[in-house]
Amino acid sequence: MKGMDSMAHEVKGVIARSKGAPVELTTVVVPDPGLGEALVRIQACGVCHTDLHYREGGIGEDFPYLLGHEAAGVVEAVGDGVSGLEAGDFVILNWRAVCGQCRACRRGRPWYCFSTHNATQKMTLTDGTVLSPALGIGAFAEKTLVAAGQCTKVSSQVKPEVAGLLGCGVMAGLGAALNTGQVGRGDSVAVIGCGGVGCAAVLGARLAGASKIIAVDIDDRKLAWARELGATDTVNSRETDPVEQIRALTGDNGADVVIEAVGRPETYTQAFYARDLAGTVVLVGVPTPDMRLELPLLDVFGRGGALKSSWYGDCLPDRDFPMLTDLHLAGRLPLEKFVSETIALDAVEEAFAKMQRGEVLRSLVTL
Ligand SMILES: NC(=O)c1ccc[n+]([C@@H]2O[C@H](COP(=O)([O-])OP(=O)(O)OC[C@H]3O[C@@H](n4cnc5c(N)ncnc54)[C@H](O)[C@@H]3O)[C@@H](O)[C@H]2O)c1
Ligand SMILES: [Zn+2]
Ligand SMILES: [Zn+2]
Repeated sequence: MKGMDSMAHEVKGVIARSKGAPVELTTVVVPDPGLGEALVRIQACGVCHTDLHYREGGIGEDFPYLLGHEAAGVVEAVGDGVSGLEAGDFVILNWRAVCGQCRACRRGRPWYCFSTHNATQKMTLTDGTVLSPALGIGAFAEKTLVAAGQCTKVSSQVKPEVAGLLGCGVMAGLGAALNTGQVGRGDSVAVIGCGGVGCAAVLGARLAGASKIIAVDIDDRKLAWARELGATDTVNSRETDPVEQIRALTGDNGADVVIEAVGRPETYTQAFYARDLAGTVVLVGVPTPDMRLELPLLDVFGRGGALKSSWYGDCLPDRDFPMLTDLHLAGRLPLEKFVSETIALDAVEEAFAKMQRGEVLRSLVTL
């Protein structure tokens, strides 16, 4: 270990102890970094809907979870065998530390990497109970332990709360448009569900040069934010049929690319029928295990095109994070608009409630 004296660290962290129970602020024991690991002092961590999915048991049953995975901070120490990263580096944490060796990596498609790296050592509660860090990160904590490859260095001129956004939701949305959906100049794009992820998809579509960007949500506040981020048209799908509206706004054809950022069968079905023939659907919203989809197979065939899922916006953190932070610093990517509020570590439960009531795009825990 390089960078400090050896010891385990007792820090404050937010855990989901059991399915559906409110989250708790408790003491977490973080080991010193071992081989290939890094200890990171967290400066900011966004509250993503996926944290709420974890708390509700929608992702797995490996309770207790150490929540938080959308974070930026400063490397405090690195373990043996780590190169290109050192104490003091400002980093965004990623949940795609590519292995370079799995079948996806070997075929030259590392953004699908099936064997991404996480820390080998476990973080625990003070009684020794092993914690499952959300998406292998666990950053609603003063410090966390990750694989060194999960740290992506970016310019320290970017504010931590803005940089942290790129660690998950905003990257997932931007990448759903830019990478998975391959939105191009002049395309028509519809985004269904305009929370943090969907609004980022709107921004990504604008960056890619889409000429029509239709934002759909059931909450007018979200639609107003989507408009600020580049939506040219908005549809409140509680009031009108979004499929008809999207078709009407695209010369009765449907959009070239429809991005589903809710993760429900009904919104997926809307996305499926709101796209043009041979168009693309990108599913970035995360469904829960109970959900089922039923579609006429003839329509799947007859409408053609591509039905894709987007994991983390098909991003490559080391390629995309520095590029996006540079665009932000150049004034071309207004990431700060996603920061609805900064909160303390003990306010995550309240932030979930605000997210469910639609009051925020992103709450950022700052430390
Ligand atoms: N694929 C990935 O890599 C990835 C990464 C991060 C988050 N996600 C997922 O993306 C989804 C969105 O995350 P978020 O953080 O933006 O959540 P959020 O709660 O901030 O946003 C969800 C939005 O969907 C809207 N909505 C709900 N029901 C709707 C309906 N029937 N029709 C239209 N809009 C509706 C809500 O009003 C809200 O604006 C979640 O499922 C999350 O788990 C996926
Ligand atoms: Zn791999
Ligand atoms: Zn997330």
